[in-house]
Amino acid sequence: MRCDHCQNDAVTFIRYNGSHLCSGHFMSYVERRVKRELRKQVDLSRGSRIAVAVSGGKDSMVTLDLIRRTFGKRRDAEIHCISIDEGIDGYRRPSLDIVQRYCQEHSLPYHERSFAKEFGKGMDDIAPLSGSSSPCTYCGVLRRKCLNSLARELECGHLATGLNLDDTAQSLMMNFARGDVERMARMGPHVKVQPGLIPRIQPLRVIPEKESYLYAMCAGLEFHDGECPYADAALRNQYRSIIDELEKRSPGSKFSILSSYEQLAPMLRDRMPQTDLRECSCGEPTLSTRCKACQLLSGLQ
Ligand code: FES
Ligand code: ZN
Ligand code: ZN
Repeated sequence: MRCDHCQNDAVTFIRYNGSHLCSGHFMSYVERRVKRELRKQVDLSRGSRIAVAVSGGKDSMVTLDLIRRTFGKRRDAEIHCISIDEGIDGYRRPSLDIVQRYCQEHSLPYHERSFAKEFGKGMDDIAPLSGSSSPCTYCGVLRRKCLNSLARELECGHLATGLNLDDTAQSLMMNFARGDVERMARMGPHVKVQPGLIPRIQPLRVIPEKESYLYAMCAGLEFHDGECPYADAALRNQYRSIIDELEKRSPGSKFSILSSYEQLAPMLRDRMPQTDLRECSCGEPTLSTRCKACQLLSGLQ
């Protein structure tokens, strides 16, 4: 099959809009949408430094690459790559080596923080102690704390993550089905700037996971494809298969879920204005007196 725009062979058929695209036209198609998102989400008057949270997986490598392509040559922007070593033997180190190689090749500053140094233990120590909670809960909360504090220390105005359309649609449906409208109202990208909390940006939120994978391949990006040994087998994966099935039957469903949310979001934020954050004794912003990370860590002891 030929590309709709040139004589080259198509590398993909996009079901939701019926187009066949070659590698070059597919890459431009992704870049156009991500750049539009970046224009909407990034406000350099908040600070010229953009932190990019990179694990070495495809989504974060694509995010880093597209942010570099967009802002890399601008004098009013500075990109800092930040990575977290959660202490998962045989899994995280090889992926962080990929990130470091990319940063060296493109002369980007690389910063790393580890659970072991921050909390005195890594995920391999925490997982056996996590009891009825999933290790993922600990990993996610502690990782967010490390990313936020590192981005804050670096005085970054934004913190970019690699969340793609599939992740976003899954989170929306999970919150919706659980009746957790308040959490839905607080989902990123952040519009209100809160002291101590570096506003998140999510440039891939309009890019389906399959397209992120194909973009990484077409751009020749090295990425880590392994699966975390503690990957949560429960809830999120159920929503992943429900939404994938929906998309198979009605192509474009993932976009519709996101666009419905975008229409509702301003009303939700009006109904549930974000309360001012306090400062936890560890220095992190929190809604209650202690941040979630400190609560979880004290529960382990
Ligand atoms: Fe959740 Fe690794 S701990 S994916
Ligand atoms: Zn083409
Ligand atoms: Zn705390």
